[in-house]
Amino acid sequence: PPASEGGSFFSGKFVLLTVGATQEPLDPVRFLSNRSSGKMGFALAEAALRRGARVVVVAGATSVPPPPGVEVRRALRTEDMLHAVEELFPAADVFIAAAAVADYRPKSVALQKIKKGNRLVLELEPTPDILMEMGKRRRSDQVLVGFAAETENLEANARDKLVRKNLDFLVLNDVSRADVGFEADENEVVLYDRWGGRFTFPREDKRVLADKLLETIAARLAAVR
Ligand code: CTP
Ligand code: CA
Repeated sequence: PPASEGGSFFSGKFVLLTVGATQEPLDPVRFLSNRSSGKMGFALAEAALRRGARVVVVAGATSVPPPPGVEVRRALRTEDMLHAVEELFPAADVFIAAAAVADYRPKSVALQKIKKGNRLVLELEPTPDILMEMGKRRRSDQVLVGFAAETENLEANARDKLVRKNLDFLVLNDVSRADVGFEADENEVVLYDRWGGRFTFPREDKRVLADKLLETIAARLAAVR
């Protein structure tokens, strides 16, 4: 859709994002985590800021600095990220979950460093699903945007997450590809929405892509609401 259709949707809105990777400690020197640089999430934060939004990012571990002007709250463990999001979510107009959240955490955290030995079996338990939880609590005037990192059955898995988590938009990342996504500066995604829309975004710099994603989201909201 042309740029004008999105109008000034983000202007004056409060946009909350999760960015980066959560880390689940195993002992004082080790953790379980996911691959994520935070580039895509920070690019979305910056794009929202440029569109006149107030932006708060709840960030796990990131390997790039946050964009200037964006308020960042650090939350390394999934549980901490959930609590920070829970506190801010009621005031948010838009919630974008771009974080790579650890799906499992060690069932117990060793207080002392685990010494090496023969075999070590770890028991893991699921972490809370932050986005799913906000999907349950959301008001109809809030806009929820999720990501899906998939390696197979891309479209089916993406549509399933959109519905299951009660989202308005879902950005599909094909993470089986080495040339885009994760640490790369470029990404190539498909955006799905709850009204049946599907928009493909060819390979592009993450900052340009982020702005195009927000433009399409704004235009879709103007068209369907
Ligand atoms: N997400 C979250 N909290 C979690 C796990 C995921 O908020 N504990 C969010 C991610 O930030 C992303 C979306 O949910 O926006 C989907 O993440 P993804 O890992 O693709 O899907 P999962 O629901 O975790 O399912 P699976 O990893 O089994 O595919
Ligand atoms: Ca996951």
